[in-house]
Amino acid sequence: MRNAYIAGTGYYVPPKVVTNQDMMQWYDTTDEWITERSGIRERRWVEAGTGPSDLAIPAFNMALEDAGMEKDEIDFVIFATLSPEAWFPGSGCFFQEKMNLGTIGVLDIRQQCTGFVYGLSLAKLFVESGQYKNVALVAAEVQSTSIDLSNEGRTVGVLFGDGAGVVIVRAREDEPGILSTHLHADGRFAKELWVPEPSSTHYPKVTDVNNLHCYMNGREVFKHAVTRFPEVINEALDANGWNKDEVDLYIPHQANLRISQMVAKILGLPEEKFYHNIQKYGNTTAASIAIAMAEAQRDGSLKKGDKLVLAAFGAGFTWAGAAIIF
Ligand code: ACO
Repeated sequence: MRNAYIAGTGYYVPPKVVTNQDMMQWYDTTDEWITERSGIRERRWVEAGTGPSDLAIPAFNMALEDAGMEKDEIDFVIFATLSPEAWFPGSGCFFQEKMNLGTIGVLDIRQQCTGFVYGLSLAKLFVESGQYKNVALVAAEVQSTSIDLSNEGRTVGVLFGDGAGVVIVRAREDEPGILSTHLHADGRFAKELWVPEPSSTHYPKVTDVNNLHCYMNGREVFKHAVTRFPEVINEALDANGWNKDEVDLYIPHQANLRISQMVAKILGLPEEKFYHNIQKYGNTTAASIAIAMAEAQRDGSLKKGDKLVLAAFGAGFTWAGAAIIF
C-alpha cells in the first residue's frame, strides 16, 4: 500500500515589510480598523519585477533540504497561484526553467485560496497511483502589484500579502500520511470574490482592462466562510473517525483572524489548536497554508507524527480540507 506523505516543507516571504501604519499613506484607514477586522498587523510585498516563480525558488530549496533530497529527484510540479506572472503560460513553466528541472511535467492550478489543498489532493493521487515518485507542490503569490492603492481599494488592499510555500509529496509503504482530502465548490457565488479581467469574453477588447482589481463582497465571504470551514473540518474528521480533540493542530487558510476565531468557537475548540501567522504576512491566498505549515514545523507547533487538519475557503466559492499524519 503506497501512502502519500509530506516529506519536506519550505517557505519564503520577501523582506519588505509593509505595516498597517504604512497603509495610511494610501488609504483613509487606521491600524485599529485593520487589526480589529482581520488580525493583520503587517504583510510582505515584493520589489517590482519579482514574480511568484521567483518567490517559489527559496521555498523549494528549503523544502528539498528538509526532505533530504536533490532537485533532480523531483519528477512533477504542481504550481498553485492566482497571481501568475503571465496570462499564459502558467507560473510553473517559469519556475521549472529557473530551477533547471529539465522536461518534467508541470501543472498550474488556478484555485485561489483553496489551491494548496486542491493541489495536495492531486499530488496524493499522483504518488499513490505510482505515476510519479516525488511531487513538488508549490503555492506562491504576488498580489501587491495588483492592489488598488486608491482609497476605493482599501477594504481589499489591506488584507493581502506576497509569499510562497512548498511541500514535497512522496509515497511510503509502512506509515500513513495524507489520509484524505475533501474538495468542494459552489459557482453561484463566483462573482462575490473575483477579478473580472483580463477576460476572454470581452475579446477583442482584452487590452482595454478596466476590472483588474479584486472585487470582494466581504460580508458574503465572511458568512459563507464561517459555515464552510467547520463543515469541511467535520467532513475530514468523520472520514477518518477522528475526534476533534485528538487533532494536534488545525491549519486554516489564513483568510482573516476573525474568521478563524469564529470557526474555532463554532467547533468548540480552543483557539490555540488553530495555527495563525496572518498577523505577520496578511492573506497570501494559495500560499498561506503552505507557509503556515512550514513555519509551524520550525517553531515546534507541528511535529512529525502529529494529526493535522487543513481547511481552506476562497473565491469560487471553493472550500477544501485534508486530514494528515504529518
Ligand atoms: N479602513 C478603514 N475603514 C474601512 C476600510 C479600511 N481599510 N475598508 C472599509 N472601511 C469602511 C467602509 O467604507 C465602511 O464605512 P461606512 O460605514 O462609512 O460606509 C465601514 O468601514 C464598514 O465597511 P463594511 O464593508 O461594512 O465593513 P465590514 O464590517 O463588513 O468589514 C471586512 C469588512 C473586514 C472585509 C469584513 O466584511 C470581513 O471580514 N469579511 C471577510 C472577508 C475576508 O476576510 N476576506 C479575506 C480574503 S478572501 C479569502 O481569503 C477567503
